[in-house]
Amino acid sequence: MKFSIVLLASLTSLSSACIYPRAGEATFTYEGAGGPLVWHHLNATTNGACAQGKTQSPINVDTKSDIGTAVSTKLSYPAQASFTSENNGHTLQYSPPKNANFTATLGGKQYQLLQFHFHTPSEHRLNKEHFPLEVHFVHQNAADKSLAVVGVFFDVARGPGDGFLMGVQAGLKDVEEKGDEGTANIHLGSITKKVAKSTVYNYKGSLTTPPCTEEINWFVVQEPLHVSIEQYNQMKKIMKYNSRFTQNELNHKENIIEDSCGAI
Ligand SMILES: *[C@@H]1O[C@H](CO)[C@@H](O)[C@H](O)[C@H]1NC(C)=O
Ligand SMILES: *[C@@H]1O[C@H](CO)[C@@H](O)[C@H](O)[C@H]1NC(C)=O
Ligand SMILES: [Zn+2]
Repeated sequence: MKFSIVLLASLTSLSSACIYPRAGEATFTYEGAGGPLVWHHLNATTNGACAQGKTQSPINVDTKSDIGTAVSTKLSYPAQASFTSENNGHTLQYSPPKNANFTATLGGKQYQLLQFHFHTPSEHRLNKEHFPLEVHFVHQNAADKSLAVVGVFFDVARGPGDGFLMGVQAGLKDVEEKGDEGTANIHLGSITKKVAKSTVYNYKGSLTTPPCTEEINWFVVQEPLHVSIEQYNQMKKIMKYNSRFTQNELNHKENIIEDSCGAI
């Protein structure tokens, strides 16, 4: 409640000197005039769900609440593959080779991996705690095109860091700047093992970037993997800050972000 009052007050004071980007200038960011509070303004036609949605992600996963746990969650990924990597200006994103079979069984349904990418700090939270890094494995069902995303947290630890991140780290020099592309030899064993072993929370949410599309089936893995201090610092230096704030409270409010900016 406090949040919404502050927000509305600040929007009102801005109404004469509107900071929202004009049509055509729009590209989303994580702060300021292109930031998460105004994503819906970047394109009112496509991004409405960013403000009006009722099942927006990310969320704080309260393990004592009635959030569901997933049954039959299995990543049947090859142990290792050469991924194409890309710095798209929002995240570091990795796509599997075209003919590889990256199947996942999530909530009893089969999906194929489209890509994985990172957020720092984590977007989801666990009993309010955030983590320094989160990876999202984005999957699609071949028949109905529905999306399912697996989120895995990382906690900073001494030592070499997780085997999965070693391949990412080795290829970071290729993707330091927006628009850069490269390849990365990625080992998936630690990810598939962790998902098989951990409690996995399941909820219906959204994309955490515009257009904030809903009906995304989320699978949030409770147990974190390890990121080394060096891996964390190197990834943070490239991605800076790319995390949308938690949406739990907004999901239960009517149209909390008022448009006091008028038509632009
Ligand atoms: C909004 O998105 C639609 C669909 O991609 C596009 O046709 C339209 O030009 C966009 N509008 C603005 C203001 O960018
Ligand atoms: C892909 O892997 C899944 C799970 O291991 C398997 O059921 C399926 O038959 C495989 N598909 C192909 C084309 O190899
Ligand atoms: Zn993501």
